[in-house]
Amino acid sequence: MSLTVAGISAHFHDAACGLLRDGRLVAAAQEERFTRIKHDPSIPRAAFRYCLEEAGITIADVDAIAYYEDPVKKLDRQLWMALPHVPPATPPSLFRLDPGRPQREIREVLGFDGPVDIFDHHLSHAASSYYFSGFDEAAVMTVDAVGEWATTSYGRAEGAHLELFEEVRFPDSLGLLYSAVTAYLGFDVNDAEYKVMGLAPYGQPRYIDEVRSLIAVEEGGRFRLDLRYFDFLGGARMFSEELCRLFGAPPREAESELTPWAHDVARSLQAVLEEVLLAKVRYLHRRVPSGNLCLAGGVALNCVAVERIVREGPFRRVFVQPAASDAGAALGAAALSHVRRTGERPDARPLPHVFLGPSFGADEIAGLFRSSPARIVDLRGREDDLLGATADRLAAGKVVGWFQGRMEFGPRALGNRSILADPRDPGMRERINALVKKREAFRPFAPAVLADRASDHFELDHPAPFMVETCRVRSPLDLPAVTHVDGSARVQTVEAASHPRFARLLEAFAARTGCPILLNTSFNLRGEPIVCTPVDALACFLRSGLDCLVLEDVLLDRDGLPESWTRAFAAPEARPARVSDRVYTLL
Ligand SMILES: [Fe+2]
Repeated sequence: MSLTVAGISAHFHDAACGLLRDGRLVAAAQEERFTRIKHDPSIPRAAFRYCLEEAGITIADVDAIAYYEDPVKKLDRQLWMALPHVPPATPPSLFRLDPGRPQREIREVLGFDGPVDIFDHHLSHAASSYYFSGFDEAAVMTVDAVGEWATTSYGRAEGAHLELFEEVRFPDSLGLLYSAVTAYLGFDVNDAEYKVMGLAPYGQPRYIDEVRSLIAVEEGGRFRLDLRYFDFLGGARMFSEELCRLFGAPPREAESELTPWAHDVARSLQAVLEEVLLAKVRYLHRRVPSGNLCLAGGVALNCVAVERIVREGPFRRVFVQPAASDAGAALGAAALSHVRRTGERPDARPLPHVFLGPSFGADEIAGLFRSSPARIVDLRGREDDLLGATADRLAAGKVVGWFQGRMEFGPRALGNRSILADPRDPGMRERINALVKKREAFRPFAPAVLADRASDHFELDHPAPFMVETCRVRSPLDLPAVTHVDGSARVQTVEAASHPRFARLLEAFAARTGCPILLNTSFNLRGEPIVCTPVDALACFLRSGLDCLVLEDVLLDRDGLPESWTRAFAAPEARPARVSDRVYTLL
């Protein structure tokens, strides 16, 4: 019997939809990519519609929708936490407290009349990792800010069976600890935690005792925050005045200069996070002495902590759900629904890739330019020429927008919606920042490397296709654009079998330069979601200073752009908002 289940996450952060057909993950996407609203939390109408189109089905073919958290349990916590502090005349806050909203919007916005399965948030996270890990059995750990009540959970899984046997409950939360200090350091909560991680290697752990005083690590899986330092229980901000006194300074102003003090606080926070995670992973191994560990939850996106768990932890193999935050929990909910309905686990093979989003044909893309005044190079049916021309430009120091195949699911661009450049160029980090990223100069870019050459350049003894962990750089080449100040890099290994065109591009670049590595960063402007459609990519190209755009088989150099286009897009007021929203329906 055939079974089709859609998993949904929404109403907090990074809404997403994923579709399982007979246990096989056929499509998944985050809503932000379609609406062009970063971290869009809305019920994922466009992502759901896309998943149906990709599978070639209608809503009548969907047997169940699985939702990634229990809104009634969540309300219980929200009432405990916030209601006394919500002023009576703040409808948005009260709206968020409506436990009927997910079901209602699944009916009214998505138009689905069938069964809705509700799963606990951390169980959805756990399932998003275990059921896609390829392991027959594993220990499972999830860590985020908060779900309903749980903030950390510990579990075991074997075959189709997955159970969580212990949890740490709100307000004791590693995610909230990290977010509170992120806010104190002047960065956006739920968005910029990775910047604090990137800042950490510049500092010294001078404040490690102060950070340790924020969290008491207890027996078993437990830990406890000292709530004197935090104000997220209904307060207007994440941290209290007491925290400012502890670190001896007022909160850093957003966008102000980053001082050694901020570096040291970031380093100390990161060190304590790693310390606590390692202790709890060791505890989990004592309870579940498996060789395999599955990780998920937003804190599992901390790739530096993951590296330490891989290197120093007791588990031989570690699988991190690539979309470890709430977007990925949609996949977990779908998997749980599949298990509930069949008694069997979904597809037991390891997740082969995350190219689960929309693709656009080469003919369709070439057709966009049929009447345009842009001078495109149409290389349809001539892949060697396309790769050669792209590699020539990269070797000449050009920055290339590279758009191929199906869009990635999760936060990382992995060679289908990527900006690529020569990692050996010492000026490249600044150049890309100036052209497109406009981001903090302290953050390094990531390298993509041919899998069979990876160990020549990086201390890595296993495939790393998803950029979920860092490792040491040991390359005979100088790779300043992708090496962090502490000598680490967040590497993506590229296999020809699962990612043939990107692998061949790396080979073409290596043939010209001797370097089988490219700088790979996500294809988007600062503050915007990664591009989804060819027109998103074209708009990003026009609004940035990228040198070259490759859309499937069509190559477009900056000097091939008509002046009227560059003039129109240079004026900030002419920048189109929500480009993708319009174009997705047109294409
Ligand atoms: Fe979560």
